[in-house]
Amino acid sequence: MSELPYVTLSSATSLDGYLDTADPPRLTLSNKEDSDRVDGVRAHSDAILVGARTVRRDNPRLLVRSPAHRTRREAAGLPHSPWKVTVTTTGDLDPRAAFFTTGEIPKLVYCPTSAAARIRQNLGDSALVVGLGAEVEMRELVADLADRGIRELMVEGGATVHTQFLAANLADELHLVVAPLFVGDSRAPRFVGDAAFPWAGDRRATLADVRQIGDVVLMRYALSTRFAAHDAAHTPWHSGPPVGIGIP
Ligand SMILES: NC(=O)c1ccc[n+]([C@@H]2O[C@H](COP(=O)([O-])OP(=O)(O)OC[C@H]3O[C@@H](n4cnc5c(N)ncnc54)[C@H](OP(=O)(O)O)[C@@H]3O)[C@@H](O)[C@H]2O)c1
Repeated sequence: MSELPYVTLSSATSLDGYLDTADPPRLTLSNKEDSDRVDGVRAHSDAILVGARTVRRDNPRLLVRSPAHRTRREAAGLPHSPWKVTVTTTGDLDPRAAFFTTGEIPKLVYCPTSAAARIRQNLGDSALVVGLGAEVEMRELVADLADRGIRELMVEGGATVHTQFLAANLADELHLVVAPLFVGDSRAPRFVGDAAFPWAGDRRATLADVRQIGDVVLMRYALSTRFAAHDAAHTPWHSGPPVGIGIP
């Protein structure tokens, strides 16, 4: 079995810990400078994972935007943007969503094995659909990505996905941005849901870095023993060339 990918969780919340508003339109939490930083983290990744509800609600492209980052990746023999990965049980995904239609890069959809045939029929050749047993466990998902050559995985939410990665102790690093506004509506999604997290009670996470970026603050947490070596190998922070896989 291949070594599990290095997993970076990336999220932005309001001051009261929400990822978004309860109703459309989508809430903008990041600012331009921070979006550029996130683009740099994307550029350093082999794959980006979001939950199916984020695909439905936000219709994200999940592409590297910066021409400089794209050029650097391509010079290193990589696709201009990381693979896109999502996970679903219902299979309620529109093949016309930007997730599927943008970027000539592999798109993977993980689902329970029982749903795979139906989802394949819906999505056609816009994605590779991977059935992973009775229920999709994130540990099995990242192991499958590792077997496909993914070494750096960025997880961009939403709450359901972040919760599972954290509770299963699969995250090596967390980037949490706090924006200077409140949502004030408990119907809205919080950063994470209820779970037994490894960092609770006496066990505290390690704060590795705090940075003001315009009007937001970025907190970077080291969540695994792999953090230090990874950090040392990737200085300056996320501005070096990507180290991951080639074109499949
Ligand atoms: N501020 C930020 O940084 C940020 C980033 C991303 C998203 N968001 C926001 O977060 C909200 C979405 O978060 P969310 O928690 O509602 O949804 P989510 O985590 O994006 O997606 C949840 C969905 O993913 C699928 N899923 C998750 N785990 C699964 C598993 N183990 N097996 C099979 N399927 C699984 C299910 O899809 P099916 O329902 O299809 O079965 C589930 O309903 C949106 O409002 C979005 O705007 C904010």
